[in-house]
Amino acid sequence: MPEPPEYQAAIAEVLLTEDQIRAKVAELAAVLSREYQGRRLVLVGVLNGAAVFVADLLRRLAVPAELDFVAVSSYGRSTVSCGEVQLTKDIGCNLQGKDVVVVEDIVDTGRTLSFLVECLRAKGPTSVRVCALLDKPSRREVDFQPDFVGFEIPDRFVVGYGLDFALEYRGLPYVAVLKPEAYASAGCPSEP
Ligand code: IMP
Ligand code: MG
Repeated sequence: MPEPPEYQAAIAEVLLTEDQIRAKVAELAAVLSREYQGRRLVLVGVLNGAAVFVADLLRRLAVPAELDFVAVSSYGRSTVSCGEVQLTKDIGCNLQGKDVVVVEDIVDTGRTLSFLVECLRAKGPTSVRVCALLDKPSRREVDFQPDFVGFEIPDRFVVGYGLDFALEYRGLPYVAVLKPEAYASAGCPSEP
């Protein structure tokens, strides 16, 4: 698998290998396929981070599913108004009578997903549940528990498999932690 040498040089540690992720995605898809048999499933990917995960997950499902996307903007962790989330792209399909699974890359404070679940519930689907590839439970600031989780990880800032740092590294096929100098080169003193 070709990887940009600039990215490779910035990796400190691979937390989850491509094989581990592939096996977990297949496992999650098998669980969803059982749970949603005979239902009208809609996967709603959260842009941009979940684009890679949702594409792989969808292709592993053994049941029919629609695919849609939302995008949110957060006012960031470093500002005082931290935690405010806004919908910047809404779904295009009608959710009445459908079962929604929101597909997200990672649950951190939990603010993005608790906001999104509320937004989507208001559209009148039969159900809304959440599938996250990664979960950092130690970082939670609101009471939120994803329904399906790939891996619990420690409180470290990770990149790859859709997750970015300063808009880069999303294309790496594994999940990794960067070297301190790679975080610093984008103007951050340490892991953000
Ligand atoms: P939450 O609202 O704090 O749960 O934030 C979730 C969003 O923050 C995720 O969808 C990611 O976009 C971003 N995020 C949280 N932790 C990481 C990380 O370790 N690497 C990259 N993005 C992260
Ligand atoms: Mg995200």
